[in-house]
Amino acid sequence: MAIFDDNRFCKRFGLTTPIALAPMAFASGSELTAACARAGALGLLGGGYGDAQWTAREYSIASQMLSADNQAHARLGCGFITWRMAENREALDLLLEREQAPAALMLSFGDPTPFAKDITDRGIPLICQIQSMDQLPQAVDAGASVIVAQGVEGGGHGYSANEGRSTFTFVPEIADWLSQNAPEVMLLAAGGVADGRGLAAALMLGADGVLLGSRLWATRESLAADQAIEAAVQASGDDTARSLVFDVLREKQWPPEYHARCLRNAIHRAWEDRFDELKQAPEDARAAYREGVETHDYSRAHVTVGQGVGLINSNAKAEDIIAEIDAEARALLR
Ligand SMILES: Cc1cc2nc3c(=O)[nH]c(=O)nc-3n(C[C@H](O)[C@H](O)[C@H](O)COP(=O)(O)O)c2cc1C
Repeated sequence: MAIFDDNRFCKRFGLTTPIALAPMAFASGSELTAACARAGALGLLGGGYGDAQWTAREYSIASQMLSADNQAHARLGCGFITWRMAENREALDLLLEREQAPAALMLSFGDPTPFAKDITDRGIPLICQIQSMDQLPQAVDAGASVIVAQGVEGGGHGYSANEGRSTFTFVPEIADWLSQNAPEVMLLAAGGVADGRGLAAALMLGADGVLLGSRLWATRESLAADQAIEAAVQASGDDTARSLVFDVLREKQWPPEYHARCLRNAIHRAWEDRFDELKQAPEDARAAYREGVETHDYSRAHVTVGQGVGLINSNAKAEDIIAEIDAEARALLR
């Protein structure tokens, strides 16, 4: 039997490779999501903070892009930031009402329970991204079909450096718990997977597949600016940090347990040891940050990537990245 033929994540979602695109806010737009679905992966649109207009538009465009290919279209889903849904769930409701239901809806960062039943009652698979063993029973009880174990090496938001788990120990610990308590629930590894070695390793650790953020962020179809991707291509895995610096600069109010991993650039270094000062008087730093964003100066603007950035050496097409990761993992597993 060929590698992945009996992979239950592939079977359940009609995938040709056990890879899901992370629903990255401001990166996983219609083009990247459709490209990943076409390449045989699960395409999760980055519904992020729940902008209803953006989500409706980008989801419809992705759906149109895939309309000629039923198999690819059946791989189109979306993800949201859970704590934002508690404030405004309009974007989620829009997708729940669509005639052709999404392939899956993913919730990350917060208690999925208040939204889970509305998703699962419609027969839509619920994917929950978690950061600690504590959160696992809650996600399973909420009806998750798939758990994403997010390690602290990942890009973007996740648990703080103190609270976060490394993917390498978190995935097998969850795999053991699921095999004892909920063997029907599938598991994806997220955080630091950026090539076929990472995919093969995740499967060896007991995952059914992987959720890729940073590696697919650095693609032609991503909404990320070319200059930001170039900064990432130049960086090594040593060059990131997990903190609240950019949340203060961007004026984002996340629950306190969540910090974000980004490139540890000049503006981050300038404030990381003076964080209280930054919080008390952020105006000048915010002005410098905003100017950085406007002028694509990534010594001052944020570049959201994880430690896997050291494995990213090109800004390629998503389809080629997925094919490369898939081929490398198959060869290793063989
Ligand atoms: C640019 C970027 C934006 C992200 N935005 C979101 C988001 O809106 N919602 C979410 O659930 N996860 C988000 N994440 C985290 C991913 O879901 C995933 O956990 C992470 O990217 C995995 O680690 P990796 O970056 O090493 O692949 C984001 C990650 C990145 C890199």
